[in-house]
Formats: sequence, C-alpha cells, structure tokens
Amino acid sequence: MCGIIGCVAEEPVAGILMDGLRRVEYRGYDSAGMATISDRILTVRKGAGRVSEIEDRHRLSKLKGSIGLAHTRWATHGGVTDQNAHPQASCRELVAVVHNGIIENYVALKKALAADGHRFRSETDTEVISHLIESEYKKLKDPLRATLAATKKLKGQYAIAVMFQDRPDLLVGARKDAPLIVGVGDGKMFLASDVLAFIEHTDMTIFLDNFEVVEISKDRIKIVGRDGKEVRRKPTQVAWELSDISKSDYAHYTLKEINEQPRTVVGASVQEDGKVADFARAIRKAKSLYVTGSGTSYHAGLLMKFRLNKEAGIRCDVVVAGELKEHAAFLKRGSVVVVLSQSGETADVIDAVYETKKRGAKVLSIVNAAGSTLARESDGVLLLNCGPEVGVAATKSFTSQVVVSNLVVDAVLGKSRTNGIKELSEAVKDALGTEKKVLELVELYKDRPDFYFVARGYESPIAMEGALKLKELSYIHAEGMPASELKHGTLALIEKGTPVVVINPSGDHHADTLSSAEELKARGADVIGVSDVEDEVYAHFIRVPKVQPKFAPVVEVIPLQLLAYHTAVARKNDPDYPRNLAKSVTVK
Ligand code: G6P
Repeated sequence: MCGIIGCVAEEPVAGILMDGLRRVEYRGYDSAGMATISDRILTVRKGAGRVSEIEDRHRLSKLKGSIGLAHTRWATHGGVTDQNAHPQASCRELVAVVHNGIIENYVALKKALAADGHRFRSETDTEVISHLIESEYKKLKDPLRATLAATKKLKGQYAIAVMFQDRPDLLVGARKDAPLIVGVGDGKMFLASDVLAFIEHTDMTIFLDNFEVVEISKDRIKIVGRDGKEVRRKPTQVAWELSDISKSDYAHYTLKEINEQPRTVVGASVQEDGKVADFARAIRKAKSLYVTGSGTSYHAGLLMKFRLNKEAGIRCDVVVAGELKEHAAFLKRGSVVVVLSQSGETADVIDAVYETKKRGAKVLSIVNAAGSTLARESDGVLLLNCGPEVGVAATKSFTSQVVVSNLVVDAVLGKSRTNGIKELSEAVKDALGTEKKVLELVELYKDRPDFYFVARGYESPIAMEGALKLKELSYIHAEGMPASELKHGTLALIEKGTPVVVINPSGDHHADTLSSAEELKARGADVIGVSDVEDEVYAHFIRVPKVQPKFAPVVEVIPLQLLAYHTAVARKNDPDYPRNLAKSVTVK
C-alpha cells in the first residue's frame, strides 16, 4: 500500500505536499518522493527511507513550482531502493507518475514498451504506467485522453496521479480498486489516497469511481468514465474536523485514539433509527446470513454473530473476508453479507464485496470511512462516526463496531433503542484508569517471548483481539483462544512465568474460566485476570467496570489495547508504524 498526494495551485505546493505526505505516511513508509514543475523543468527527488529522512536528504519542501506530486511507498514490486521510489518518470521525464496498487500485466507491457525503445530505470510495475502514458500522449496530445487510453491497457489495481512536463497547469488521476479522492479547494485542487492528506485545505471532496479518469487544474475539474464521456459530480463535504487528526498532547496517534473511546462509543450510537431498522429487517429476512471482515473487524463480527445466534436464534456464519469466496455456494439472491471495516478499502474486504454482489446477494456495511469503496458499493451503510483512525492498529473503530452491531442486533430482537450508552462511556473512562496497573505489567513482561489470552463464550473474540493487538504493536508472539481449547494442545507450551491474560467477567462462564485459570497456574503461568470480580488465582488483576453483558467486550479490550501500546513503547517500537503492516491492506 502507498500514499499519494498531488496538488495544483496558485501558490508554491512543495510545503503543502510535504504536510500531506506526513499525513499519509501510515500507508507506506519505506520510501518517499516528490516531483514538481517549475520553469518548464520537471524535477524528481526521492529515495528509500522515512519521509523525514528523505526531507533531510533531499529538501523536498524546498522544491519550486505550483504543481506537484508526492508519494510514500510500501514496496511490493521491486525492492526498497532509491530508484524504485516514486514518482516514476518516463524516458525523457515528460511524464511523472505516483501509484498505489499492483499492475498484474506489467511484465508483458514492459516487454512491448522496451521493444518500442523505452528505457526502464526501476524494477517497479509503476514505471510501466509512465512510459505507457508517455507513448499515448505522443499520439493523442491530450493528458486526460492519453491517461484513459493507457489505463485501458492495465490489469490489476491502481490509483495514479500523473503530471506532464509540458502541462504545468494540470494533473490527471485515475483509479481502479484503490482509493483516489479529489479535494476541491479555493485556488487549489488535490488528488490523494486519503482525505487526511488535504483536509487542512479543504473538506470538499469528490470520490472517484472505478475506471474514471479526472483532470484537475487550480480551478477546474473534469471527470470522464471508461467510455470517455464526461461525468458530472458535485463535491460533498466530509465531516471530519482537522482537530481529529492532530496528535494533541499524546505521544502517538494510537494512544490518542485509545483515549478518545469514551467519546467515540457515544458517536457510534447516534444512528438513524430507520437505517438500523432496515438492517434488522434485511437480517431477519435473509435466506443465508454471513458476517465478514479482516483482522480486528473480524473479531467485532464474531461478537455480532454470537448475539445473533444465541439471543436472536438467527443462524449466521462469520468468515474472514479473504476466505468468503470459499463460501460462494451459499451466497445467492436473498443472502445478506454484513461487512465490517474501518477503512472500507481493505483488499480482502473489497474482493468479498464484489463476490457477494456478483452472486446477487445484499451487502450491508458497518464502516468508518464514508466515501470508501465499501461504503459506495454497499446496499446499506451504517457509519462508525469515530473520526479518522490514523494509528495502524485498530482501537476506537473496534469499540465503535461493537456499539453499532449491538444496535443492529437489538433492533433484530425488537428492542427499540439501545440504552445505557452514557453509562458505557463512563465505564470506558474508568477502564482507561487501568493504565497504571498495565504499566506495571509492561515492566514485568515486556521481554517475554510469548503471551497467551483466553476467555469463554462472548468474551473469546476479545482474547483473540488482545493477542492481535500485542503482535501488531509489540512484535511479541501472542495467541488468543477460547479457554476450553487450552487443554487441546496449547497447555503444553505454558511454563513457569508465562504470562496468560484471562478475561473472565462475572456471569455464566465465570466458574469454568476460573478452573482454566487454576489449571494454568498449576503449570506455572502468571495469570493476569481482567474482570469486574477479583479472584485469588490471579497473579495480577486488572479490574474493569461491570457493564451490560453485551458491552463487556468494550471495557475489557481497553486494558489490552493499553498493554499492547505500552509494551510497544517499552520495546522502542513506534506504535503508529507497526512492522510489515499498513492501515488498510490493499494487496491480497
Ligand atoms: C489491517 C490492520 C488491522 C485491521 C485490518 C482490517 O490488517 O493492520 O488492524 O484490523 O487491516 O482493516 P479494516 O480497515 O478493513 O477494518
């Protein structure tokens, strides 16, 4: 995955692009670069390293010109080298391209272009696009038409922004299965992979559809479809405020987002009754029902399934998005797939959506990013309303997903409105108060090679989520599973001092889970209890407030998020940039 920003304005753009680059760095951080045009000269500066390193080395923000492109890279095709960084220019630096995605037929295209005399300087699939556009531009003499013609030859996924050395007045963008958003400013226009890149300058946006190509100048926008016909689309205002994307006084976005949860759970509960009722009606009528998502969103899906099965008596399967295709035989007209996602852009998720639609089934999404591909492809949408989640590890989006899906399940059960949100918000505040205790545990266990998380029933997905957070942020091996599964193999790995987090609220499963805790203790584990009731078996205890059982995961996950975050900090990892991961994984 990569981050793109382009800008054409009445003023110098390098500073604007630099700010935007920093905002999309979460999308890729192994290389960065920028290109501008000034006095008819196209200048490209780029290299391998984090944005700040490339800025120190190449002074990107000092580039001259009122038009430019910039990029942060997460390498897929071609290693992490200076030459493979974007922008990628064509032979005579007539065309410069930044790209997010993968061109599947780049080898064949490269061969054909090389046979025509094009000389390649990188190992990237992206460079093929710049040469291809250059060759079309020579024939068609029109930037937009040339880009349209070139994209028709591409197979795969792409969001591109293109600059032409002899046209310092305009940028061209195109997309297929990767996000590209137009920002409509006053005397400046933007192309970017994420609204965050330009929100400081404008909150008016146009979301492009697949196969569309757009040409922007400082005061004009022209969009054409695959058939070359002009498409008219009005800008829409995005609701996220700039304050939402500053780190405030927090050391990292991840910590800020963890601390926002008393407020974001309330935001998630503000939904139109009619829309929630539509979801509930569709779920009740569904001939077959699936819930899907990836990573943390999948865990929220497991919670939703649990209540649908147990309380509403509705059969429902939860499948990770990357595997939904394997269940295609059961996806037909009359089926419903509920899709959970923060970004609405995760490739596995979008693939699952296309498969669902191809088979005539209905897609209902619970998503944070309003203009995302998922939101636009869905038959019904409920938004998480939790503001941008910049930290790579999902935190506030997860608790918002739990709140929204509970609203839906309550509506399925015929309960008119979920109450108790104010109390939940207070309880989340109390749960954040576990930080001091968590820090003590971090000191004790930050160097342990393995961690385990167990729970029963409705809490089991929280054990999995606790383990996922710790892996993602601290790079410590962790496993989460139902406590009942422990005895079927994993117990063999428990030795003296192994930390095991046992999530065990009061209620039906409490006694059984205590027995598991005893078994763990007998094998030498340091059992860390997370519960509203303390028991002697625990070596350490984290008290979370008692809430309605359906909301218990929301308060239980908070100390686990804090544990993962603080362990990462103690191990000197940057929690906003976990290794090998990016915010929405746009490759399969
Ligand atoms: C990535 C992130 C996970 C996230 C998953 C799904 O793998 O590292 O933290 O849960 O994507 O993201 P989504 O935006 O679809 O919820």
